[in-house]
Amino acid sequence: MVLGITGGIAAYKFVQLARDLARFGAVVDVVMTRAAREFVGAISFEAVTGRPVLSDILAEGHALDHIRLAREADAVCIAPATADFIARAASGRSDDLLAAIVLATRAPVLVCPAMNDLMWSHSQTQANVEHLRALGYTIVGPATGPLAFGEGSGPGRAEEPDTVLEHLGRALGTEADWRGRRVVVTAGPTREAVDSVRVLSNRSSGRMGYAIAAAAWRRGADVLLISGPAQVAPPPGPAFQRVETADDMAAAVGDAVGSADVLFMAAAVADFRPAQPVAGKIRKGDSPDTLLLEHAPDVLRVTRERRRTGARIIGFALETGDGRDNAREKLRSKGLDLIVLNHADEDGAGFDVDTNRVTIISSDSDDELPLMSKDDVADALLDRVRPLLAERV
Ligand code: CTP
Repeated sequence: MVLGITGGIAAYKFVQLARDLARFGAVVDVVMTRAAREFVGAISFEAVTGRPVLSDILAEGHALDHIRLAREADAVCIAPATADFIARAASGRSDDLLAAIVLATRAPVLVCPAMNDLMWSHSQTQANVEHLRALGYTIVGPATGPLAFGEGSGPGRAEEPDTVLEHLGRALGTEADWRGRRVVVTAGPTREAVDSVRVLSNRSSGRMGYAIAAAAWRRGADVLLISGPAQVAPPPGPAFQRVETADDMAAAVGDAVGSADVLFMAAAVADFRPAQPVAGKIRKGDSPDTLLLEHAPDVLRVTRERRRTGARIIGFALETGDGRDNAREKLRSKGLDLIVLNHADEDGAGFDVDTNRVTIISSDSDDELPLMSKDDVADALLDRVRPLLAERV
């Protein structure tokens, strides 16, 4: 791995990235521009990678470093990438070691911009970034948040090392069997208003759907994660759309499903909602004895017509008791290709935990998986669905 550090204040953050990569077993060659050395010491990088830091393109004994590093790298990641470095890369310059490596390599290149928001929003920088995208480089960030001291908040902040690490994992493409596929995942509960302060919801945490979205993205898919109010942070990578009610989710899925190869319907959508939500707060004194409910839309049913021909639809059923017959009935009546059955009343499965035990049911098979992490369930499910996708020409 070549990790390029350019001269911005965010340079200090990426000592952590170098360390994490080295701990995962990567051989990390850190290449610093001259300006980068003004912000952070090369020794910090040497201490975490165990390898010398390189900077000079014109040094005796190092004449071909730029070609050797470019050839050996499985990925080249520039983090942080300043406006100046982006401009140089966009115009094909090779006036320092890092720029020359970027020009000579044929490995995936990731560029993580970090600069003041005014420099970022300048049309010159935007044009340069667009050009890098067109060249096939992956642009990671920038994030929006606090900038350098006294500069307030805005777009231009470097992405966090964890996020960059996820993007590097994807760029390495070791498991890219979902590349080019469009995947929509729904997750989390929905929330229906009783009045302006109270809601009707359920205990879904969103973990299973988030794990599927993260795994599909890591394996190369274009992923849209449509989520109700979940208890976990969205994974970096997938596009993210936050929704609130069953109606919102139906609208979002309806818009997305026409171009999806697969829909994973992992959300725990409300079946019922208050029939007459009240504007303002219901006072104790004038609360009704009963709450009148009506059916919420069934998202799978109301979006059925809008599916792309040949799209695969994966449903989820959280059941108490054995539940297999109920799950089979849902498979048939909701027009699903597979349904993932899990048990609400089993230790280590269902809500609020990082593990799950599922049975993947199709019209002619039951595949009972052992108890495993939700991340592993996600990968097993993707392995099961992948052969069902039509080959694209
Ligand atoms: N589902 C949906 N819209 C709803 C309820 C459920 O699209 N309003 C989807 C879920 O996301 C899941 C599948 O339907 O993929 C099965 O969900 P489940 O709640 O088990 O099924 P229901 O049809 O609600 O049946 P019941 O609650 O009576 O078991």
